[in-house]
Amino acid sequence: MIERVDANQKAERVIQRKDATPGASVGPPKLTWAVPCDCSQADRAIRSLARARIPRRYEHCDFENFETDVWRLLSKQPLAEGKAKGRTPDSSLASAKTIVQGFAREYPAGSETGLLLMGPCGVGKTHLTVAALRELMGRGHEVRFYDYRELLKDLQASYDPDHPISEMGVLEPVLKTEVLLIDDIGASKPSQWALDTIGHILNKRYNDKLATLLTTNYLDPTENEPAIPPMPSGQKITVMREETLIDRLGQRVRSRLHEMCRTVEIFAPDYRREFRDASQGRS
Ligand SMILES: Nc1ncnc2c1ncn2[C@@H]1O[C@H](COP(=O)(O)OP(=O)(O)O)[C@@H](O)[C@H]1O
Ligand SMILES: [Mg+2]
Repeated sequence: MIERVDANQKAERVIQRKDATPGASVGPPKLTWAVPCDCSQADRAIRSLARARIPRRYEHCDFENFETDVWRLLSKQPLAEGKAKGRTPDSSLASAKTIVQGFAREYPAGSETGLLLMGPCGVGKTHLTVAALRELMGRGHEVRFYDYRELLKDLQASYDPDHPISEMGVLEPVLKTEVLLIDDIGASKPSQWALDTIGHILNKRYNDKLATLLTTNYLDPTENEPAIPPMPSGQKITVMREETLIDRLGQRVRSRLHEMCRTVEIFAPDYRREFRDASQGRS
């Protein structure tokens, strides 16, 4: 066996086969590369999504397929002149998308400030934050998705000595993942244990300067309710403040979130409901 190592191509080894015919011309051997096939690329993408714990329901979410002109799409005409002034569903969606996309594009610059997306159900909060996770994942950052209620349940289950995963086993990735999404924070009953647990997670990530993205259906109290025009269907955008995020998380955790996140409020219709109703001719 002859081994020749080209000094200029340091690690490239050219090996002539042992059984080459004597006297046959020994031209430059053909170099071949392994090219990943499409199926292994797809497998890798699925594995990455699974590692990041992104649920199947949200696998499709990216910035490109996030619509910001729902009013126009539904009414097939622009919002009437007078109504377009101030906050509209479309301007609210567009500004939320700009902020979340900006966060993902600039990361790790500005990573000390995460995002808290607040707004009624179905306005695309999870869609936008998953889009950010997927973009960051594509650039090689470590990201993970946690549903708030499931996280608390997993932690509770881990206290059982027979549970296969210890409390630290559940908690460690939550505390250490580079960019974490906690979806639907405040969704479960605010017991003292739940508040202490989420307080501990957020404090640790804040102290370690790790970026946290959060979504919630609960809003802050306000004295100036934004005037939002109804949708073409006549559906009013429901803004519920009977229970606020402070009621669900306590003042201490809400203050921590103020420090560690930029707040983004989205006032838009429930996307699936509007389009389903429109497709069933109810608009
Ligand atoms: N503006 C939008 N453009 C495209 N799809 C959207 C938009 N808003 C919501 N969706 C889709 O509607 C569904 C509900 O959105 P989701 O992000 O779960 O809402 P939220 O988290 O605010 O309750 C998801 O399948 C999402 O992809
Ligand atoms: Mg959601």
